[in-house]
Amino acid sequence: MMVSVFVGASVDGFIARPSGDLDWLPEGGGEPHGYHEFIATVDAIVIGRKTFEKVLTLGPWFYGDKRVVVLSTGPVDLSPAKGAVIEHMAGPPAEIVSQLAARGAHHLYVDGGVTIQRFLRAGLVNRLIITRVPVLIGDGIPLFGSLPHDVRLHHVAPRDFPSGLLQSEYHVVV
Ligand SMILES: NC(=O)c1ccc[n+]([C@@H]2O[C@H](COP(=O)([O-])OP(=O)(O)OC[C@H]3O[C@@H](n4cnc5c(N)ncnc54)[C@H](OP(=O)(O)O)[C@@H]3O)[C@@H](O)[C@H]2O)c1
Repeated sequence: MMVSVFVGASVDGFIARPSGDLDWLPEGGGEPHGYHEFIATVDAIVIGRKTFEKVLTLGPWFYGDKRVVVLSTGPVDLSPAKGAVIEHMAGPPAEIVSQLAARGAHHLYVDGGVTIQRFLRAGLVNRLIITRVPVLIGDGIPLFGSLPHDVRLHHVAPRDFPSGLLQSEYHVVV
């Protein structure tokens, strides 16, 4: 199973303001920076409950007919995600990965700060594609957190964009 992260972060390492606000991201996602090419290779998107709740506020269902798995330890009302292919799961990241692998998924896209951090801590992330937005927001929801040990990364390639976005792709060294 390939597990990827594809995320936009401020230069000071946040993925949202403390309130969850994303107003500092470029409008409309900014200039094309590979999201559509990336998402085309993904079999299922695994998001934390807080990311799910935020996505619901962004207008029509964002992920089209891609399979989405919402992680939460509690009940989740999936009904507002109109037209979505969506389910709720819970449990250790390794169990989530093995259940989705057993159902034929080969490539997972994991999203949400806490969710990414849990998959990283479990040693399940293979690839990180981080797009740095040229702004400091001072405080917010961090992309990264504590780890039980260092995670060595191989920097595959930087891509810079005229608007100032700077994207780095890292592969986790095993
Ligand atoms: N800049 C970007 O590219 C980007 C990308 C994604 C998200 N965001 C933003 O980040 C914010 C959300 O991130 P976040 O770190 O606060 O939260 P999150 O990772 O979206 O959600 C965390 C919640 O997910 C559930 N969860 C995670 N792993 C689980 C597991 N293995 N089993 C069961 N439940 C699990 C728990 O829900 P319960 O508490 O219900 O148990 C946990 O509290 C939002 O504002 C969103 O817009 C930004």
